[in-house]
Amino acid sequence: MKVSHRLESIPVSGIRKMFDLAGPDSINLGLGEPDLAPPEAAIEGMAHAAKTGKNKYGPTAGTPAVRAAVAEWFSRFGDMNAGNIMMAPSGSTALLEIAQAFIDPGDEVLVPDPGFVMYDPLARLAGGTPVGYGLTEGDFQPDVEDIKARVTDKTKIIVVNSPSNPTGGVLDEAPYKALSDIAADHDVAIVSDEVYFCYVYEGRHRSFMSNLDNAIVVNSFSKMMAVTGWRLGFICADENLMPDLIKMQYHVCASVNMPSEYGILNALPCLDEYLKNSCEIFKKRRDLISARIGEIKGMSMSPPRGAFYAFPSFDLEMSSVELAGELLKDGLICTPGTAFGAGGEGHLRFSYAADETKINAGMDILESAVKRLRRS
Ligand SMILES: Cc1ncc(COP(=O)(O)O)c(C=O)c1O
Repeated sequence: MKVSHRLESIPVSGIRKMFDLAGPDSINLGLGEPDLAPPEAAIEGMAHAAKTGKNKYGPTAGTPAVRAAVAEWFSRFGDMNAGNIMMAPSGSTALLEIAQAFIDPGDEVLVPDPGFVMYDPLARLAGGTPVGYGLTEGDFQPDVEDIKARVTDKTKIIVVNSPSNPTGGVLDEAPYKALSDIAADHDVAIVSDEVYFCYVYEGRHRSFMSNLDNAIVVNSFSKMMAVTGWRLGFICADENLMPDLIKMQYHVCASVNMPSEYGILNALPCLDEYLKNSCEIFKKRRDLISARIGEIKGMSMSPPRGAFYAFPSFDLEMSSVELAGELLKDGLICTPGTAFGAGGEGHLRFSYAADETKINAGMDILESAVKRLRRS
């Protein structure tokens, strides 16, 4: 059977390509998932649910007690209740559902460039036109002037991602306010992807959960609780949007993973303590990788303030794909900046969701490769 034109027009993810080329003993700084164990309470809650018969379809929007508990925990970021929360089968699925529910052919969707690999394809698959917007040098804030210049009467959504994959940038107050104003003035919705909200090492997370008049927020337990395999996330939105989101979700999956929901429910009371510990671990690794990159002539980066990615620029006469290919030959997996859009050229992404031994081994490879390539 011939593939649809829609899917045919979309390239395979640049991240997957690197994995397919890697040798078995390579140092992997390409992975976007925490290497920590999930909270014990989450595993117990999930196992108990599965053992006690919670293995059936549930309500499409998620189990009411879980929606209520999620709303209560996240109320620290904005006024909300269970009616503002729809559980979803992952952050990825939440993004797909929002795209399919709100984008019409001809609609323009502003996406960060560089930005997470799914934003552009999901807009296209829904028939929309993704339009990349730039980030400021060094601190990777959404470039407000560039966004203003790109907003047209066809613009439906501005996608914002803080803390950011791939840059590690964390949204400051001024661009946060400017984005909210642009959304209100032009009747455009912000879709705010906040799946890394819990990994902020300097400053604080600014959530659009406090601005549901203008924004829909996507979150996920994948990175928060190190349960990428459980496939559970949620959408936080104005109650007026819920009937459409729930209708969409019914046609995507009917309902979400119920044992995972109960695992999350059981772990929420200890989440603050769990995250404090994870954050300390990632901050140490962030400091290590920043120091190591800082010592390499030809690479440059300000320490990333959030998520678990380093996105240094390099000063070599080659593309990011070529440099990532050289590193792969030397046994280090990372991701070329252009996997995240043309705006990622001149950068590599390293995930530091890996232990310090691996980070050091990876940085040794990077250091000698860059030295060699600068000489040649
Ligand atoms: C920025 C961002 N958003 C969303 C996701 C999706 O996460 P999940 O589908 O595991 O919830 C990811 C995963 O890497 C991500 O990096």
